[in-house]
Amino acid sequence: MPLTGLESKELKMIIFGGKGGVGKTSCSIACAIGLAEKFKTLVISTDPAHSVSDSLCQEIGFSLKPVHKVTNLTAIEISADKAFKQFKKEHESELIKLFDTSTNFDAEDIQQMMSLSIPGIDEVMSFKTIIDLIEENNYEKYVVDTAPTGHALRLLSSPVLLDEWIKMAAKMRWKYRYMIESFSGDYKDDEADLMLLNLKKTVKRIAALLSNSEKCEFIPVCIPEDMAIMETDRLLKELYQFKITSRQMILNNVMESDESGFCRQRKAAQSKYIDKVADLFKNLQVVIVPVFPDEIKGVAALEKLKNILFGR
Ligand SMILES: Nc1ncnc2c1ncn2[C@@H]1O[C@H](COP(=O)(O)OP(=O)(O)OP(=O)(O)O)[C@@H](O)[C@H]1O
Ligand SMILES: [Mg+2]
Repeated sequence: MPLTGLESKELKMIIFGGKGGVGKTSCSIACAIGLAEKFKTLVISTDPAHSVSDSLCQEIGFSLKPVHKVTNLTAIEISADKAFKQFKKEHESELIKLFDTSTNFDAEDIQQMMSLSIPGIDEVMSFKTIIDLIEENNYEKYVVDTAPTGHALRLLSSPVLLDEWIKMAAKMRWKYRYMIESFSGDYKDDEADLMLLNLKKTVKRIAALLSNSEKCEFIPVCIPEDMAIMETDRLLKELYQFKITSRQMILNNVMESDESGFCRQRKAAQSKYIDKVADLFKNLQVVIVPVFPDEIKGVAALEKLKNILFGR
């Protein structure tokens, strides 16, 4: 059974995730290559390990780069750390104002607060980069490759975390506002209020896109091994909490040949896990990808994987 539904005009963002080393990067790029046959496509890596460059055998980096030998496909890497540093640089005065007016902190305390991270903000900022790209609307499909499960979950849960922080900061601001109003009778929103408001809007935009099942789909990648299956199960349960839709999953590295004793043994060992996947993830369509004789590196090898994913 191949991947289905990805050509739907409404579907904009397709996110790949799963345990470390199961084939997320290979599958996401192969999927993007397949979509690029019909749609202007952007593949986005949120993995700090920059494996998209390695997989494509082409240096990608933090700006949009056309993928060599693939028409209609562009790639970009996004760094949460870089996005957060940029945010801090742009909003330093607003953040200082926020801490200064809302707390009893002195200058030294504020400097310390500034050096700490705000929960979820780095991931939200990297997501904001993705959302901005989607809203610029220069591409028809956006394929996102994530780092292993823990990181992907941090990315997907970041709007919730940051929302809690915004609520807390807004509460402190209300106290400050109340004080000003009591003394002078008049309060005008300042730049710190506007920054909070803009952050709130960003969080809302991200949550709205993630929970829109027509616009966004998550494809878990798994292999027929117990630990990977258990991790996928936990991942899917978390995704459900964030209202993120999965309709299909990829079961990668499946042994199909029984030419040698080794292959037969691997195949037998995998068969119970393939049954377990069918049983555990009944509501998902499972796309089987066989183990390749060589690693999947470079466009030619990724094209072969693409043909399997799209049943061509
Ligand atoms: N079906 C397959 N057959 C053979 N090799 C594969 C297959 N799928 C992936 N690989 C190879 O396995 C390695 C890991 O794949 P990939 O980088 O896509 O995994 P990943 O899940 O993105 O890893 P990470 O968690 O480190 O980001 C790569 O060397 C890739 O070429
Ligand atoms: Mg990867």
